[in-house]
Amino acid sequence: MLNEPKIRVLVVDDEEYICNIIVEALASDSYEIISFTDPAKAIDYIEKNQVDLVLTDLVMGEQSGIQVMETTLKNYEDSVVILMTAHPTIKTAISVLKKGAYDFMVKPFKLEVLKATVRRGLAHQQVIRENLHLKGQVEFLKVANAFGIGMDIEKYLKMVVGSCKTEFSAAAVSIMEINPVNGRVIRKICESDKEEYLETIQDEKHLLNFTGSRGTKPLVKTEEVREDGITKLKTFISKPILIRRKLHGTINLLTVRRFKWITPGEMDVLTILTNSAATAIANNKLYNDLQSSYMQAIRALANAVEARDKCTKGHTDRVTRLAKLVAEEMDWSPAEIDNLVMGCMLHDIGKIGVPDSILNKPDILDDEEREKMINHPMVGLQIISGVDLFQPAIPYIMGHHERYDGQGYPKGLRGEEIPIEGRLLAVADTFDAILSDRPYRKGASLRKAVNELLNNSGTQFDPAIVEVLIRIIRRGKIDFQDMYGRREDISGLDDILLNEKVSV
Ligand SMILES: [Fe+2]
Repeated sequence: MLNEPKIRVLVVDDEEYICNIIVEALASDSYEIISFTDPAKAIDYIEKNQVDLVLTDLVMGEQSGIQVMETTLKNYEDSVVILMTAHPTIKTAISVLKKGAYDFMVKPFKLEVLKATVRRGLAHQQVIRENLHLKGQVEFLKVANAFGIGMDIEKYLKMVVGSCKTEFSAAAVSIMEINPVNGRVIRKICESDKEEYLETIQDEKHLLNFTGSRGTKPLVKTEEVREDGITKLKTFISKPILIRRKLHGTINLLTVRRFKWITPGEMDVLTILTNSAATAIANNKLYNDLQSSYMQAIRALANAVEARDKCTKGHTDRVTRLAKLVAEEMDWSPAEIDNLVMGCMLHDIGKIGVPDSILNKPDILDDEEREKMINHPMVGLQIISGVDLFQPAIPYIMGHHERYDGQGYPKGLRGEEIPIEGRLLAVADTFDAILSDRPYRKGASLRKAVNELLNNSGTQFDPAIVEVLIRIIRRGKIDFQDMYGRREDISGLDDILLNEKVSV
């Protein structure tokens, strides 16, 4: 591993004794001072090595200090260049300052003045460097708020990786997230300029640096490498992501730069980024735990409804399975499918408010009973209205008894006025009801259920969804044995489907 570099100062003057005086005056443990009497050699050196500050004479025989200055500023934007001359004019002074020189000194000068100017120049440089980092941090924090407004964890961690890559001009960055209980990697997010860096950046052995009682300080390794004929500094940094002192993963960074070392300012930025990743992971875990508790509560509620209704044993689970298959065929996103599961589980929750005598009545309901029964979506809406997390279930609860022709309830919505969630669930709900056994009758055959769907397509049901469900049936995606305890012959459907021109 290489040591932290000193501030590199270049002195360029064709008078050797002036070089020597300046080198001696500035000698310090913090500086590495190199002097040149030949400006061409100085320019060559600057092209190949990073410099922080250059003190150059303005006129050196045929050559000008302007070239030295221009080469320096072209290669290192934040470097400090101080020009020296024995023949000052206002015009020259203005011209070099305009070109980017930090200051202009007239020979002969007092060594104290020289030292003060150099110190001022370096302080100015420090401010610029830190400002750059602060700018980067502010930019990052702006986007970091995205997590607060519901960005998912995968996207958020990708954003952290992207920010690391930009902030450090890194060649490759990765985040490896582990399960803190068993140490297994559960997520890897990488960005890399070259294929060859991928293996290094996502090697799971980096995690071993921080497991057990090992340290929590970042690991930094720097080596010199030759790449494309140029000597470069290759730095690998691995920083642990800790939540309540437990290891949840690492952020790994690989930089391959010509000269630049990782500065303390950059390490601060890395700390901010690592902390934001840790917060996001912790929040995500809390959210998932909360959601799974809610889901258990939902399941318990759904079971409570099913337990009272003798007709609907297992109905909720089967409808959820069917609706999920249809939604997947329609390319719904994972988040939409999560909401669908919740919506299907909760769709009949309002039946809690329907008396057992009505719920289990084998005969046709009278008007008053029917009134109570068809009120169950509204009761369901009232039950969940106070819980934010359940809001995605509303279109399922409210839409599953609406009909495509506007004759449904509770609102009598028509066609696409009915949310797609309600239209989808209406098809799955009825399809399962036809196929299921009831205490007073056996479940109907698949052929009859499909006929029923087709006969009511466009009146009760959205035809597009009926078509998707039939496509799924024909492709054998529904396990009738598992769901209804009987085999179904899909090929026996061909004749009815041919007439309906159902595309598969
Ligand atoms: Fe219902």
